[in-house]
Amino acid sequence: SIIFLNGAFLAAEEARISPFDRGFTFGEGVYEVCIVVKGKLIDAPAHLARLERSLKACDMAPPPEMANLPALMAELLQKNAIHNGSVYVQVTPGVTPRNFTAQPQGRSTLMMVANTGHFETSPAFTAGVHVQLQPDIRWLHRDIKTTMLMPQVMAKRNALANGLADTLFYDADGLTEGASSNVFMVDTQGSLITRSLSNLLLAGCTRERVLTLAQNAGLTLQERPIRPEELPQAAELFVTSATYLIAPVLSVDGIKINNAVIGPKTRQLQKLYLNYIA
Ligand code: PDD
Repeated sequence: SIIFLNGAFLAAEEARISPFDRGFTFGEGVYEVCIVVKGKLIDAPAHLARLERSLKACDMAPPPEMANLPALMAELLQKNAIHNGSVYVQVTPGVTPRNFTAQPQGRSTLMMVANTGHFETSPAFTAGVHVQLQPDIRWLHRDIKTTMLMPQVMAKRNALANGLADTLFYDADGLTEGASSNVFMVDTQGSLITRSLSNLLLAGCTRERVLTLAQNAGLTLQERPIRPEELPQAAELFVTSATYLIAPVLSVDGIKINNAVIGPKTRQLQKLYLNYIA
């Protein structure tokens, strides 16, 4: 495939990144995943705004291409002949000696990869997922979309080993988010509930879009933590992300939600979201 690296489009096999890039030595890096549907990037302005916030929070210089990213993402898709799929955008600080506080002299490293994908026909979207709970062992700046993803990799591998699709994290107050998604519950009154934004979870672009669609549809919204003890009584549960879109959750730790049937509010929001990206 053709990737983008530091100002140039090139074959992935030809790409070279310094072993002294702080993304490699210190795990410093931020990223975004933006999907493309019928040639159109979905919520790209929100993803790029979050990338800028992540860079600022990590005290990382934006890459020189920052202002030009939408055009470069479109060009990357075109060079790979991708009409449906995703663009991965990653920024790391660039090169310094291995010294914790050194400031890079050169540019930040910008790497972008495009992949084909049809998320609206994925099994997760159409049939739903079975998940488990795990304590949220991550750091306390989960609002930053960092490439430092060891806890998520461990949680997802553990889920897979248990025959499950994913892990939802919880802290003392309730569910924080999925390992790569935000989580929503519909209660028996039909209210849509998701945790409010803070340093404890990522401000998902899909979360924001779903809240707007739900509000416009006249649904009642509550932003508060979902407690694990509430789950057996939950009417519906789903997770959101750029690549899940809206994935129904059919069971948690073996406890069926809505008898493992996709609920009406979830279906309604899926329909509204498909309509939005169409
Ligand atoms: N992950 N929470 C976490 C921890 C995430 O990693 C993601 C996205 C989300 C949802 O954010 P959004 O709706 O903006 O995609 C929430 C991407 C898809 C990934 O890591 O592949």
